Amino acid sequence: MKKVLITGGAGFIGSHLCDALIEKGYKVTIFDSLDRQVHPEGKIPDYINKKANFVKGDVRNYEKFKDVLIFHDYVFHFAAAVGVGQSQYKISKYVDTNICGTANLLDILVNTKHRIKKVIVAASMSSYGEGMARCEKCGIFKPELRNISKSGKRDRKFWEIKCPKCRKIARPIPTTEQSPLSANSIYAISKKEQEEMSLLIGKTYGIPVVSLRFFNVFGPRQSLSNPYTGVTAIFISRIKNNNPPVVFEDGFQTRDFIWVGDVIKANILVLEQDRANYEIFNVGSGKPVTILEIARLLIRMAGKSLQPIVTYNFRKGDVRHCFADIKKIKRMLGFKPEVSLKKGLTMLLDWSKQTDASDGFERALKELKEKKLV
Ligand SMILES: NC(=O)c1ccc[n+]([C@@H]2O[C@H](COP(=O)([O-])OP(=O)(O)OC[C@H]3O[C@@H](n4cnc5c(N)ncnc54)[C@H](O)[C@@H]3O)[C@@H](O)[C@H]2O)c1
Ligand SMILES: [Zn+2]
Repeated sequence: MKKVLITGGAGFIGSHLCDALIEKGYKVTIFDSLDRQVHPEGKIPDYINKKANFVKGDVRNYEKFKDVLIFHDYVFHFAAAVGVGQSQYKISKYVDTNICGTANLLDILVNTKHRIKKVIVAASMSSYGEGMARCEKCGIFKPELRNISKSGKRDRKFWEIKCPKCRKIARPIPTTEQSPLSANSIYAISKKEQEEMSLLIGKTYGIPVVSLRFFNVFGPRQSLSNPYTGVTAIFISRIKNNNPPVVFEDGFQTRDFIWVGDVIKANILVLEQDRANYEIFNVGSGKPVTILEIARLLIRMAGKSLQPIVTYNFRKGDVRHCFADIKKIKRMLGFKPEVSLKKGLTMLLDWSKQTDASDGFERALKELKEKKLV
């Protein structure tokens, strides 16, 4: 029986992957520090598969990580501090966990006898910065990151990406794996470094590495009490507590939401197909949706009469648009997202009914304000 290690396997995506791998006959170990921001009670979540072997440990602890890692055939490296805004003021924590944690993984693989046959790294769409855009007149371009100091503008033109040559409003287009990266937060930089370091060491020593750039993953088990990440989870915890979701800018910024079950399918495909080795794949739905629409849909589906609050404020580090071009993973591995946004949100809301959600949004917003990030 092949043995798989999932770092960060007690979290949202890792725990679903754990279930799917066990279902497929793999033996799974979870290595997770049970970070209090994600797991406020500091205990193993009830949803963790009873057949999984759970080891509480931190990827920053080289010796402990090594003792567990070397007995596995494959590793999914998902352990990370996750939060764009928060990474801008908890810089050491993000660099330590994400970059140094990955450095430990690679250092162990290079310097210790092991039997790891493939490393799969959770990278992120955030490393692209702004998604690609097209000006009707001047053609395709990679937008500069916006640096907006003024706020309060209701005019959509104010917020949109403009062509650097003619200043006309440009249209967002799908972002491919070849698009230049321009990370706009410490989190995004750390995810980019994780990917680059892993591919470099993998290629140098002949250890197959695959990097999956996840877009906005949504689904059950995303912490409803962590106000720093996961816009659907943050909105649901607001709505459950009868508070309106708060939307930055004018609400027409777009993201690419992908159902967690579809993300798991992509992970299994790259694990089981050799042609994925040393490649980078976008894992998204390929469909942009506005943040305001997500807020309205969730309110309506939850049967509440709330109205989203649109702040017309810029949150530093946010991009206007980014959605995936998923042709590469479709063509090379036969990946196809199957769950629509509406179906996924329905399943997510059903799950959220039996789940506690403490709304920490105001606290997180206060922190961002104190740090002058909004
Ligand atoms: N959720 C998304 O939309 C998304 C998008 C792009 C990339 N990703 C990446 O996917 C991976 C999984 O994300 P998620 O949404 O499941 O996050 P999550 O916060 O639910 O899970 C992360 C897990 O890592 C654990 N962890 C944190 N620091 C650790 C450490 N030092 N040592 C060991 N474990 C530690 C946490 O306790 C948690 O269980 C992350 O690497 C994240 O950057 C997620
Ligand atoms: Zn132009």
